[in-house]
Amino acid sequence: MRASTIIVSTLIVGSAMAAYWIMAPQRTWTDEETKLVLSLGLSNLPPLPADPSNAVADDPDAASLGKALFFDTRLSANNEVSCGSCHAPEKQFQDDLPRAKGVGVTARRTMPIAGTAYSPWLFWDGRKDSQWAQALGPLESGVEHGTDRAYVAHLIHTHYADQYAALFGPMPSLDQIPEHASPNVLGAVQDDWHALDDTQRDAVNRIFANVGKAIAAYERTITPQPSRFDAYVDRLAAGEDTSGILSPQEEDGLRIFVSKGECTKCHNGPLLTDNYFHNTGVAAVPGLPEDLGRIVGTDQVQADLFNCLGPYSDAGPGDCIELRYQTKGGHEMIRAYKPPSLRGAASRSPYMHAGQIATLGGVLIHYNTAPAAPGGHSELEPLNLSTKELASLEAFLGSLDPILKGDQP
Ligand code: HEC
Ligand code: HEC
Repeated sequence: MRASTIIVSTLIVGSAMAAYWIMAPQRTWTDEETKLVLSLGLSNLPPLPADPSNAVADDPDAASLGKALFFDTRLSANNEVSCGSCHAPEKQFQDDLPRAKGVGVTARRTMPIAGTAYSPWLFWDGRKDSQWAQALGPLESGVEHGTDRAYVAHLIHTHYADQYAALFGPMPSLDQIPEHASPNVLGAVQDDWHALDDTQRDAVNRIFANVGKAIAAYERTITPQPSRFDAYVDRLAAGEDTSGILSPQEEDGLRIFVSKGECTKCHNGPLLTDNYFHNTGVAAVPGLPEDLGRIVGTDQVQADLFNCLGPYSDAGPGDCIELRYQTKGGHEMIRAYKPPSLRGAASRSPYMHAGQIATLGGVLIHYNTAPAAPGGHSELEPLNLSTKELASLEAFLGSLDPILKGDQP
């Protein structure tokens, strides 16, 4: 008898709670908050910006060649590493590691790729100004693919000559080019590069750049996928009932995100990043070489042979505005890094540019306490949010996960 009384009363309380959830009044947002919340929705994402520096950026045949190259492990010193080893489609095109593993271990964490076609600068420090120029970096990095541009050119000649020729014209003869040669790989490989004449170097550089352009065409198809938060925004925009899409806790978190959490200072727009650079006081990793972030990236991108203004770019005289008018920045660019998109971030720990913070809760404690930067000056101020508010913020970030996970293009 007693047991059944408990069951009945539990049922009554349970259904009363369910009624509360259904009947819960919709959140009221101020006009300013509404504007901010709407600006974060994926429906506001503009069409992909053109990349005038890459003539094949939107060519489906280039994307198909680029996809094959992205997953081709022959493009590595040990035949085991491809772009896809670190940028795994089933893990949001990253690897869940604090620091990436290729033929060696890198000093930074793998970045996710979705939506990076919108970013004027690539890498944590923005040392590249296009997806195609970015792709050339890991190929010649001694800890990532561990190859060199002559090796890449020969590989294209052997395995992809027809696809390549259909896009970029016939391949030049590589008979006189040694198997390995690059200005970036020290030792014999560099000596062999210096032994080449200008025409030979130009031929290899052009093939190398075109490999990047095909890979970039594929990467442009990797776009962010809608989340529950976007469904919420679409309803809010249409003036429709938003209840039941986000939990009350997630809605609380959203309010903190756009108000006293001040997250939208840097994580704004439909990608939840301003694609700019900020020092947020993230700790340095003991034992690694000093990492100064953006202050070094600004010089590197200007000096890059493969930048928008360089000889391998397809851009016209009026293009490359970002690079032309790039400001070097001063002290505030020391240890400044690009904020990653927060879409899907809840399910891709660890966090920060070298995986310094293991959990999302840990990231929020970082923002709440705003530690002093190990170099330069942190832009953050302590937030002093309560434990409950931090939990709401964390719940909200979970609503930014794509509804459909896994491989897309
Ligand atoms: C060994 C693992 C590894 C491999 C292999 C690798 N990457 Fe990465 N990727 C990284 C790391 C680490 C970073 C960040 C490095 C930095 O900022 O210095 C990164 C950054 C990027 C970014 C920048 C994203 C942004 O928001 O700026 C893109 C795009 C990218 N990689 C594409 C590629 C492509 C294309 C290839 C293959 C040619 C490739 N990666 C191979 C680990 C890897
Ligand atoms: C002053 C600019 C700024 C503000 C304000 C800011 N962020 Fe960030 N956020 C960044 C930068 C820059 C990074 C990368 C830092 C690094 O790796 O060193 C980052 C990284 C993150 C990451 C880790 C993403 C990843 O993939 O590693 C999360 C999560 C995050 N921020 C959430 C938030 C939340 C939530 C708020 C509000 C409480 C917030 N941020 C406020 C600039 C900012």
